[in-house]
Amino acid sequence: MSDARSLNDTKNDLTAGVQQVMTRYPTRRSAIMPALDLAQQKYGGVDGTTYQAVAELLDVPEIWVFEVASFYSLYDRSVTGRHHLRLCKSLSCMLRGSDALMRHLQERLNVKPGETSKDGAITLSAVECLGACEIAPVLMADTQYHGDLTVEKLDGLLAALAEAVS
Ligand code: FES
Repeated sequence: MSDARSLNDTKNDLTAGVQQVMTRYPTRRSAIMPALDLAQQKYGGVDGTTYQAVAELLDVPEIWVFEVASFYSLYDRSVTGRHHLRLCKSLSCMLRGSDALMRHLQERLNVKPGETSKDGAITLSAVECLGACEIAPVLMADTQYHGDLTVEKLDGLLAALAEAVS
């Protein structure tokens, strides 16, 4: 997520999706989670601008949105990059080489897990099992799974992401 994203841009990005979500829930409060899901899918995480935008679009107090985002661990509140790479570090992936892949990512991006590259493009995380052990080692790039990973596949993915943000 970029710090430079404005409230208006965020509201514009989310308006159609949030309106659609509101039609499926009985109260505006119950639409907070799916609205945050939309924001997380779009930006890779949620932040203060997201809470404010969701609150205004749903016409609920911002504190309600923050409470939901901070209660559920599925919302990533620390992501600052425009893309979020989550590399699984659990057993199946580790046995199939995720440690070497993590080292490669750290070298390529010049970050440690939990950090964002200097250009703000990519946040790197080491995460527990992503539930796709049959295609270990696995990485999630934003909402997309990438399995049977190799260094070459990772380089291809980084090249594609660089192209997407340039
Ligand atoms: S151990 Fe990595 S996806 Fe399950």
